[in-house]
Amino acid sequence: MFHTRLCDLLEIEYPILQGAMGIVGGPRLAAATSNAGGLGILATWGISLDELRRDIRETRSLTDNPFGVNIVPLSPEFTRSRAELVIEEGITIVTTGRGDPTTPVVSLLKEHHCKVLPVVPTVRHAVRLEAEGADAVIASGNEAGGHVGTVATMPLIPQVVDAVKVPVIAAGGIGDARGFVAALSLGACGIQMGTRFLAAHESDADLRSKQRILEASEEDSVVSSLFTGKTVRMLRTTRLDKLMDLERRAESKEDLKALMAKVRQMRQGDTDEMEVVAGQISGMVKAVESVEQIIRNIIKDAARICKQLGRTAEDA
Ligand SMILES: Cc1cc2nc3c(=O)[nH]c(=O)nc-3n(C[C@H](O)[C@H](O)[C@H](O)COP(=O)(O)O)c2cc1C
Repeated sequence: MFHTRLCDLLEIEYPILQGAMGIVGGPRLAAATSNAGGLGILATWGISLDELRRDIRETRSLTDNPFGVNIVPLSPEFTRSRAELVIEEGITIVTTGRGDPTTPVVSLLKEHHCKVLPVVPTVRHAVRLEAEGADAVIASGNEAGGHVGTVATMPLIPQVVDAVKVPVIAAGGIGDARGFVAALSLGACGIQMGTRFLAAHESDADLRSKQRILEASEEDSVVSSLFTGKTVRMLRTTRLDKLMDLERRAESKEDLKALMAKVRQMRQGDTDEMEVVAGQISGMVKAVESVEQIIRNIIKDAARICKQLGRTAEDA
């Protein structure tokens, strides 16, 4: 019922992608998603080439289904070395995250015969990356956990759908069957979720971080560029509120740089005040579940919602 052209492109059963999540989205999570009929995606952010090779091999030992690797195009050298490694290891699906938009990342990966699915925050980026050869685009709204642009998912998806011919995957603020059906209604061929899978049993996030997501409300995430220099959505803490206040009051670039250096030092070893990267959907994540349960429920509930919508349309 939910077999879309994205399923054919990626050879998956359900059009549900587990968004790459640096540090916490390892082989167990990726393999569990692929085994449940979606597409698991390994992150490369924050790990060495040897660690990436190890993660790919471990994931392959846990699933026979396709899975992808995410490359954040931090620089042409970083991108090329990761691309060469994923090809060497037989990976054929690569998503790219928010990096330097001037790096010609899609053409570089296409040279290596990868299917490339870039994450895009605007119509402008979607059009440019389609022209570069992207096989699909992941349009990600401001509600998402991780690096975000300024446009929300609801207005972003239909505008990207209207502007490109390749399949569009909706990301940002999707956590259950209602979001899945809404995304398909907006013209997307599938969804990518991060935060919901971050709170799954198989993610490598520590228990305290998962608990923080369960306790969070829809108002508890904020966007700050203090951590990577680019805008990142994460759950607020008292410490983060104070830092963001200092960020707002910084009078010069030097002040801001000094503050960011301080932030890098503060992050080490402090677990309870540690910022958890997560999106607005945290407010509706109420239990830690297995990836299999999450995907199964989305498909089951989505079928029920569609049936109900059909009945409502007939009654109207
Ligand atoms: C903890 C965390 C880490 C992330 N790391 C990456 C990353 O390394 N590369 C990337 O392209 N996207 C990254 N993302 C974005 C996700 O892949 C996904 O697109 C996003 O979480 C979707 O929005 P949602 O959180 O509302 O589901 C990250 C998201 C989270 C929550």
